[in-house]
Amino acid sequence: MPKGLKLVERDAGGVDPAFRADVLIGLAQPQKAVPARWFYDDAGSALFEAITRLPEYYLTRAETAILERSAGKMAALIGPGRAVVEFGSGSSLKTPLLLASIAPAAYVPIDISGDFLRASAAALAAKFPGLPVHPVEADFMRRVELPGEVAGLPKLGFFPGSTIGNFVPATATDLLRTMRAALGEGALLLIGVDLVKDRRALLCAYDDAEGVTAAFNRNLLSRINRELEGDIPVDRFAHQARWNDAYARIEMHLAAQEDLAFSVSGKRFAMRRGETIHTENSHKFTRRSAGLLLAAGGWEPRACWYDPARRFAVLLAEACPPRSAP
Ligand code: AVI
Repeated sequence: MPKGLKLVERDAGGVDPAFRADVLIGLAQPQKAVPARWFYDDAGSALFEAITRLPEYYLTRAETAILERSAGKMAALIGPGRAVVEFGSGSSLKTPLLLASIAPAAYVPIDISGDFLRASAAALAAKFPGLPVHPVEADFMRRVELPGEVAGLPKLGFFPGSTIGNFVPATATDLLRTMRAALGEGALLLIGVDLVKDRRALLCAYDDAEGVTAAFNRNLLSRINRELEGDIPVDRFAHQARWNDAYARIEMHLAAQEDLAFSVSGKRFAMRRGETIHTENSHKFTRRSAGLLLAAGGWEPRACWYDPARRFAVLLAEACPPRSAP
């Protein structure tokens, strides 16, 4: 079993205080909103894994196809002997595909969901017996100190799944800069981005026929009830997926089906019928917009690969050296 480094804070009730703060502040806004990162408790992580297998949710299959088809070319550019640092590790097939092709020196999965992290790190360690695995239980939005064991190794950041799209541009830029600082000079970043495409295909991917995405969205309310002493009537909320054209993003909302009131951590909140809690943004990119975002975050795009249907892209970028001009 790989070692674990635990960096997530907990209050006396075992709850991350940032979760309580985000929910209480978010529900008090005129447009109620809860940051999407709180989807991922154990139930939410399992529901997300189920989403990745849905026929409508093409993202995971498209990205996996890119890694399968282009692993050789990626390996030639990346070279052997790097510590692969994965931001928000899952139990996906993608990581083994990458690790098998590039001969890494170590693997550092970083995830906020500790049990999930330990299980997937153990599975990975079993698959690659000679590879040192150093899981870090942490919120990668904050500056993460990497384990001392990989200090002297060149790094490859791995940020698959178009998770970067879940952040508004200012936050995404901050995150890319934080990664740049954590990974150091000479680092590379392999990052997946979902591409702008036909609106219907996008809406279906976020509102599947089986209702798994709806369950994933509503689980956030169940989590609030369970961890933050809430009494939100979860079944009175409907899942909504919307396309926001101005920002090129899918938004997920939870819409109140009637006028209702509830409390969370002793605070009262009221909602009108039709009023929503905004729970997620999922930005979609072009190669240019992805390149601009990377550049703003201190990364120079070097290569880009697509799936055959050009629905998704994986970019390789290099940490920009510090510069002052132009
Ligand atoms: C994790 N992230 C990239 C997913 C996405 O597509 O934005 C989360 C998700 N939300 C609904 N379905 C999947």
